Amino acid sequence: MHDRTAVIKRGPAPADAATRLALKRRYPTIADLRKASRKNIPNFAYEYMDGGAGSDGNIARNNASLDGIEMVPRYGVMISPPPCEVTLFGRKYAAPFGIAPMGGPSVVFPGADVFMASAAQHARVPYTLGLVAGIDVERAAELAPDVLWFQLYRYAKNEHKIGFDLVRRAEIAGVHVLMLTMDTPTRTTRPREVKSGILNPFKLDMRLRMDALSAPRWMMSMRKYGVPRFASFAPYLPPNAGIEETAKFTASEGGGAFSWDEVARYRDKWKKPLVLKGIMHPADAERAVSLGIDGILVSNHGGRQIEALPAAIDVLPAIAEQVKGRATILFDSGVRSGWDVARAVALGADVALAGKAFLWSMGAIGSRGPGHVIDTVTEDLRATLGQLGAADVAALRSVHTRHSTAYRLSDFQKQG
Ligand SMILES: Cc1cc2nc3c(=O)[nH]c(=O)nc-3n(C[C@H](O)[C@H](O)[C@H](O)COP(=O)(O)O)c2cc1C
Repeated sequence: MHDRTAVIKRGPAPADAATRLALKRRYPTIADLRKASRKNIPNFAYEYMDGGAGSDGNIARNNASLDGIEMVPRYGVMISPPPCEVTLFGRKYAAPFGIAPMGGPSVVFPGADVFMASAAQHARVPYTLGLVAGIDVERAAELAPDVLWFQLYRYAKNEHKIGFDLVRRAEIAGVHVLMLTMDTPTRTTRPREVKSGILNPFKLDMRLRMDALSAPRWMMSMRKYGVPRFASFAPYLPPNAGIEETAKFTASEGGGAFSWDEVARYRDKWKKPLVLKGIMHPADAERAVSLGIDGILVSNHGGRQIEALPAAIDVLPAIAEQVKGRATILFDSGVRSGWDVARAVALGADVALAGKAFLWSMGAIGSRGPGHVIDTVTEDLRATLGQLGAADVAALRSVHTRHSTAYRLSDFQKQG
């Protein structure tokens, strides 16, 4: 008998071969998932996940720069199929590809965090739980014990009481990698969110309720997985605090950029691998390395923070050159395919993460979405390696590339 409670507890099992094939036929690319997601979820959910800063110009720049990178194949190496496995921070993963941290995935599709955690665990790729997610770090550790990474925003009141308590909980839960998000020093306003009715502070008004009622699949998933909430904050809130109260709490307790002194204090508290997320300047990468940070995530937050930033991929080579192997280099912002992952690795990243691709997938096909994204991207990556004549992931570094929009390290050094 189908045990509904067990599915909620363990997360959905991976799709069987026939379902995987059917999904591949119907949604061969991430763009197909994006297109299909719109009709199944409320408008506010779509606009929240899909919208960027300003008029989406930074999202467009991320995509255009990635699309513009060419890789030249060499022939004569016959390894089929090429292996995609990588070792990151001392652990083996199935591919140099994983899930970026996100706030509010369960607003986009109720149950989203459970689906992403389970899919990543089954596929053995990194899963980064966002601090503002629908499941807490303890639950994420049950679902994804082998691949769990955890992202923190700055909660600095009372001598980082909440921030340091989260570090303690992460340690007990068995999180492998902790990530501090550096690139949200101020709140940003995304016009598409505002137009869709999402206000700051958040209020679940009649318009949003009507919008939700117009999306039956979303409503069904909410009945099963519950009203979206930000679960990791529960110990710091009154019992049964609703989404509005939680939003007020995050606005008053959290915020601001981690200072370098604060980064050093987190380095002190957290003994396992620590990553700084949102680094865009080689000098900041250097500062991070000097503080003993293990990983640098080159990212512009997927184009969600400021319209005028460079494409993240355009600063990746300069940062990799600056770091020179002293820290693991992670990349996100615009990854939509296996060849995007290959491009990022060829330009110096050890692993590439994706955000929106996973959210679109759940809007399109629900619980099976994240597994399908991992299948699609890793299959494309394997094909890309084979096509380029790269015997494995490491061999991508020797592939000849052309990247005409890249910043050079000397550009930064000249300006200081
Ligand atoms: C809906 C949404 C919410 C996000 N929330 C967070 C967050 O809470 N913390 C964080 O560090 N990054 C957050 N991000 C940024 C992602 O971690 C990642 O940098 C970005 O999505 C990568 O770009 P991509 O969407 O083009 O793959 C969010 C992204 C999206 C799309």
